[in-house]
Amino acid sequence: MNPALRQEYLAALGLETWVMRGKSALAAAPREITAPVESPAVHAAPAAPVARAREAGVSRDDSAAREAGVPRDDSPAREAGVDWPELRARVAACTRCGLCNTRTQTVFGVGNQRAEWLIVGEAPGADEDRQGEPFVGRAGQLLNSMLRAIGLAREQVYIANVLKCRPPGNRDPAAGEAAECLPYLEQQIALLKPKIMLAVGRIASQNLLRTDVTLGRLRRQVHHFGVSRVPLIVTYHPAYLLRTPGDKRKAWEDLKFAREVCARV
Ligand code: URA
Repeated sequence: MNPALRQEYLAALGLETWVMRGKSALAAAPREITAPVESPAVHAAPAAPVARAREAGVSRDDSAAREAGVPRDDSPAREAGVDWPELRARVAACTRCGLCNTRTQTVFGVGNQRAEWLIVGEAPGADEDRQGEPFVGRAGQLLNSMLRAIGLAREQVYIANVLKCRPPGNRDPAAGEAAECLPYLEQQIALLKPKIMLAVGRIASQNLLRTDVTLGRLRRQVHHFGVSRVPLIVTYHPAYLLRTPGDKRKAWEDLKFAREVCARV
């Protein structure tokens, strides 16, 4: 990337005085390890054939989704074997947890369906709930800058959350909500086949890695997700970085590390 442009993005991260380290320093710091816990598997069983709801025709309303032929199958493997439009329709029609009663709309995910990078956050906030797209608020602006700083446009990556619906008052996702929603993300991963995943924040990281280990201890390691063992790197949530700008430098180290891991895959 053009150095002046990169400097601009680093400035947006609050890192205008940052100086690039040599590769050796980067290589020496992080460790590559296998995820300490078993990662969630992508369900392999094929889904029953269903009438497909056309993406454009999918309503936020359950009854409309039912009219479009979206089944209300509660089996855990029901997301397996679907394509993007069908999966989107299933998410739009989801009533698997109580968040369906308080959401404005589901927030499926956004980006390039051929992306090498999958960014995974926690859950939609108020802005995302209103607009139906992940990371569109202030945290989203910072996430865009973080990606830009490593040479990635938002349009180049895929962005999704552990939860597809906003928890009221932006509370943390309940364990049951995450468990009900994760199969959707797993199927997004199966369709996308990313080269690398970047989990932003503690909630996303702990849910994806099924661990209670602190974010600080999960950073600077290569974890692996799912049966396809997608390399997964952990970093801070941009909303946290907005509150704690002193940690932006550590996030920048994580991003460079992730970029390096991706180049090795
Ligand atoms: N925070 C998240 O984790 N995800 C979003 O989509 C927005 C804010």
